[in-house]
Amino acid sequence: MTAGVFALEGVCASRGGRSVLRDLDLEIGEGATALVGPSGAGKSTLLRLLNRLADPDRGTVRFAGRDVCDLDPLELRRRACLVPQLPALLPGTVADNVRYGPELCGNEADVPHSLELAGLGRSYAEREAGRLSVGEQQRVMLARALALEPEVLLLDEPTSALDSRTEAGVEATLMRLVHEHGVSVVVVTHDSGQARRLARRTIDLRPEAAG
Ligand SMILES: Nc1ncnc2c1ncn2[C@@H]1O[C@H](COP(=O)(O)OP(=O)(O)OP(=O)(O)O)[C@@H](O)[C@H]1O
Ligand SMILES: [Mg+2]
Repeated sequence: MTAGVFALEGVCASRGGRSVLRDLDLEIGEGATALVGPSGAGKSTLLRLLNRLADPDRGTVRFAGRDVCDLDPLELRRRACLVPQLPALLPGTVADNVRYGPELCGNEADVPHSLELAGLGRSYAEREAGRLSVGEQQRVMLARALALEPEVLLLDEPTSALDSRTEAGVEATLMRLVHEHGVSVVVVTHDSGQARRLARRTIDLRPEAAG
């Protein structure tokens, strides 16, 4: 048995002074895990704790057995890469966006490959990022994450703006990453069908649901 991917112990977290997560104990293993629960339950808050975009008020978050506070935040965020709920692209082209993260780490991105994995043709590379539909931006955000070759993808409603056919393509990519490349995925979704299709395990963040 390995250390798993993430382990939370006694985690309490708040946003804007309001308590959101209370005394949460959780193990997230390898493979795909879905995170569900009603709006406001703290799903996005939890993802942010996993790669230290936020820190808990109390408790410990471990990644591969190590307290995330002992890891370099940039290295943690490359290994466990978050695709946020709302696209937030940089000015410039799609290729500029995909190259940005790997460049920070001194690596060169495979832009066409990342775009294709994310369900965008390579012809998108020179498109202006600010002139894409939300669904296209969502896939550029995924391509940016994939270019970092992370061990874990933290996906916050990654297909919420996609039509069902494009969604199926993104899901197929995620399944391939999990099953052929050993990438782990933590995916927030409001779609129970997507949770069933993608994930080995579903964690329900409803306050009354068992962790
Ligand atoms: N920047 C913020 N400042 C203050 N409160 C916030 C902030 N972001 C979120 N919250 C509050 O924290 C709680 C949890 O928010 P969070 O975004 O984690 O929920 P969620 O489960 O992801 O919801 P959704 O399904 O709507 O995305 C909510 O009550 C929300 O109002
Ligand atoms: Mg959310």
